[in-house]
Amino acid sequence: MRVLVVGGGGREHALAWKIGQSPDVEKVYCAPGNAGTALVAENVAIAAEDIDGLIGFATENRIGLTVVGPEQPLVAGIVDRFKEAGLRAFGPDARAAEIEGSKVFCKNLLKKYGIPTGEYEVFTAADEAAAYVEGKSEPLVVKVDGLAAGKGVILCKNGAEARAAIDTIMRDKQFGEAGNHIVVEEFLEGHEVSVLAFTDGKTVLPLASAQDHKAAYDGDRGPNTGGMGAYSPALVLTPALSRQVTDEILVPTVRAMAEEGRPYHGLLYAGLMLTERGPEVLEYNARFGDPETQPLLMRMRSDIVPLFEACIDGQLAGRSIEWSGDTAVCVVMAAEGYPGTYEKGKVIEGIDEAGALPGVVVFHAGTQSHDGRVLTRGGRVLGVTALGTSPSEAIESAYRAVEKIRWEGMHYRKDIGRRGD
Ligand code: AMP
Ligand code: GLY
Repeated sequence: MRVLVVGGGGREHALAWKIGQSPDVEKVYCAPGNAGTALVAENVAIAAEDIDGLIGFATENRIGLTVVGPEQPLVAGIVDRFKEAGLRAFGPDARAAEIEGSKVFCKNLLKKYGIPTGEYEVFTAADEAAAYVEGKSEPLVVKVDGLAAGKGVILCKNGAEARAAIDTIMRDKQFGEAGNHIVVEEFLEGHEVSVLAFTDGKTVLPLASAQDHKAAYDGDRGPNTGGMGAYSPALVLTPALSRQVTDEILVPTVRAMAEEGRPYHGLLYAGLMLTERGPEVLEYNARFGDPETQPLLMRMRSDIVPLFEACIDGQLAGRSIEWSGDTAVCVVMAAEGYPGTYEKGKVIEGIDEAGALPGVVVFHAGTQSHDGRVLTRGGRVLGVTALGTSPSEAIESAYRAVEKIRWEGMHYRKDIGRRGD
């Protein structure tokens, strides 16, 4: 079978790498891909948002399965359109992807079905939102309703900061239409974990646990990013907590979506806070996490392709996933200035040396090939990922590999994997 991976980040490199190991797969394509996916797949110069272009390519090249990485095409209905064209695509349809595409929809669903999440209010008018936060002294979180490339969540120390965030979103329209509605939410404290699960609309099959590091700098300081590193397993998620997450959060959510007439087929990503009250949902994503996918897929022993097929076909019941008992750590190497503005086109050296170390895979994110060299092309550039028999071994191995890589202005966190205790 031929498989097409849609997207061009570190997550898609990891997906293409894993899919290519399946005995059922004769060829992997990646659209648009990056310099790393070119090593494990054939890159196709079609943007992830160009649904017509992707349907044309998949039809012409008899693609048997398309796996969609990013949220934007999912929310825009790529899976619905592929289905209409007689093609098989892994991921939720547009109505199900709304669980990520609209934070208002997501919070209202959780509340309606009694699934644990922070208290919140929804606003469509700036003055009502401002009146609500007026005089509050506790921390609050202000969220843009629609997709905002991970930037639509503003953590506020008190009502005055929340007021400023409301003005930025609703009066200055910094997020455009996505900010027409906002959610003002209780600030939740605790350890944050990501739990990803396959689902076919009925059965839920969780992956191993993972933890992301969202802040730009060591010690969780600095601005939020898409993720500066991740590791798996997340030791804070004990087997008992893990069962609680499945029983009280994931299964009820999948049932709720079916009940709403939006059966969810694909990968459901729960962003959770382990609070004193128990695990609570911060948000849902309708896709694999980036960079969590890199360490997770390094640990996954099972063939991933039959799992994609089972989700599409409603055949997930009775399946399981085999995991390596090792720890995997992914250190993201980013361009100077990221998550703010950054330059592109810097020559990267040492990738091959790093990738030659035992148990190490260098997943590419924002890279491109040019005249036989690899250049930077995005904010998050590489995800250096290593397996180790213990957390400390995996961490040491990942950083030994990171130290072999250099380009002008690169930066990375030095404390990835040292949190979950
Ligand atoms: P989201 O895109 O909703 O996951 O938000 C991005 C990040 O903001 C999360 O990964 C958390 O670190 C943080 N965050 C979101 N909502 C809350 C909340 N209610 N309380 C505390 N932190 C939050
Ligand atoms: N690592 C966070 C995300 O994929 O949204």
